[in-house]
This record gives sequence, structure tokens and C-alpha cells, in this order.
Amino acid sequence: MKYKVGVCQFEPKLFDIDYNLSRMEKLLKPVNADLIVLPELASSGYLFKNLEELKNMSESPTDGHTAKLFIKLAKEKNTSYIVGFAEKDKEHIYNSSMLVNPDGEMHICRKIHLFCEEKKWFTPGNKGFQIFKAKEGIKVGIMICFDWIFPEAARTLALKGAQIIAHPSNLVLPWCQQAMITRSIENRVFSITANRTGTEKNAEKELTFSGMSQITSPEGEIIKRLNEVEESVYITEINPEEANDKKATEYNDVFTDRRTEFYEL
Ligand code: ACM
Repeated sequence: MKYKVGVCQFEPKLFDIDYNLSRMEKLLKPVNADLIVLPELASSGYLFKNLEELKNMSESPTDGHTAKLFIKLAKEKNTSYIVGFAEKDKEHIYNSSMLVNPDGEMHICRKIHLFCEEKKWFTPGNKGFQIFKAKEGIKVGIMICFDWIFPEAARTLALKGAQIIAHPSNLVLPWCQQAMITRSIENRVFSITANRTGTEKNAEKELTFSGMSQITSPEGEIIKRLNEVEESVYITEINPEEANDKKATEYNDVFTDRRTEFYEL
């Protein structure tokens, strides 16, 4: 089966939802794909210094600005999109990503493992690691940024049947891109890490994000790694069915060979 997947890397501006949405629209309009993954908190920016700032950037998952744009784009472009945003749900704000399909169907993933000061403002995700169907029924598991450092996250998604792990990110630590090669190999899945670029400053704080968004195969091949700073969309054709085969050798299946009686997880 031929399936065109993509990764969109760009530099969001803190507190500027209008700019961020129009930047994403401009990057996405000219390209054609079945599924494209975008960064974590792509519409809001990342470096909040208090809850009030985050509240002002939080949006309804169904009729906020981000949802409206991606519902429109998904239909127009016949593409599934996964994009990060600050999700308002009553008194809670989650660091979430939405999957929007061409038929308007939408699914929400809430970040499970909050990173650093995110713990001060966001509510940790309460829906577990879920598998959703993207365009043509391809099974996609979503985990968000720092979830990568817990191998249980990718493993859970793979055991639940993910063919592709979509990984919207705002990476600041230096290890993730290498680690995601291993996540792909040990679970024999495709992974798409969509990272952002640039430096954000707020009050006395500053963070630089590492770019290098990448797509990896179930064999751990880096199909593409963007550079640290470019703003671009990269599209490639994969066969998601390759991820259904869990054999690492003729004699070894990475799922059925597991010795769960010896694992203390
Ligand atoms: C991160 O979880 N945004 C590093």
C-alpha cells in the first residue's frame, strides 16, 4: 500500500495564534499527502510564564481557531493532520494534539508526561495512549514530545496496533531524535517526530528548540531528518503495512518473543 506521510517544521511565535495558523496554512497549502504531522503547541507557542498567559492561548478542541483551520484544510486537501494546541476543557488546560481527518472526524490526544514547568500550568493527560484511524484507516498512535523518554509510551501504542507513531514535539533536550530511531526499531513501527525551530524568550526565560524533525522506518532507517533551523514540509511515500510485521529475524518476533513474566513494569 502506498501512503504519503509528511512532517511540517516551523517556528511558531509565542502568543500569536493568527500568525502561527497562517504560517502553517501557507506551508501546507502547496503540498499533497495523506497524513501530515505538525509540532506540539504549534498554534500558541511554548514558553508561558504563568497560568494566565496559557489560559489566554487555550482553545476549544471543536470550534477554536486551530480546529476550524484544520477541519477546513483536511477537507480541502483530502489530508489527515495532527497538530498540537492548548486545549481548554472546563477548568483544565491540556497540552493536546488533534487528529483531523478529511471527513471532519476529530480525535484528541492529551500529553501524558508533562515536561519541566508545563507541570505548573497544564493538567496531565487523562486518556492514556490511544490509537486512532487516519485517512484510509491507517492506525496512528499519538504521543507528545517528552512522552518519548518513557519507552512504555511507544510500546503501548505499538502493542495497541499503531502502524505510525505521530510525535508532535517542542524538543529542547539533545537525545530525542536518536532515541526515536530505537523506538521505531524495538516496536517495528514508523515514527514521525514533528519538532519546531527557533528560540523563545519570555521575561527572564529562554528556550531554543532543536528542529531536526524526522521520519523513521520500522527498520530504524532515517527516511528524512530536516536540519535544525529550516521551516519546511517534507513528504515521502511509505507502506504502513510494513509495520504489521513484527519479525526482527526469521526466528524473532518482537511482540510474541516478549517475556512479560520477567518484566517489572
Ligand atoms: C517537551 O516535552 N516539550 C520537551
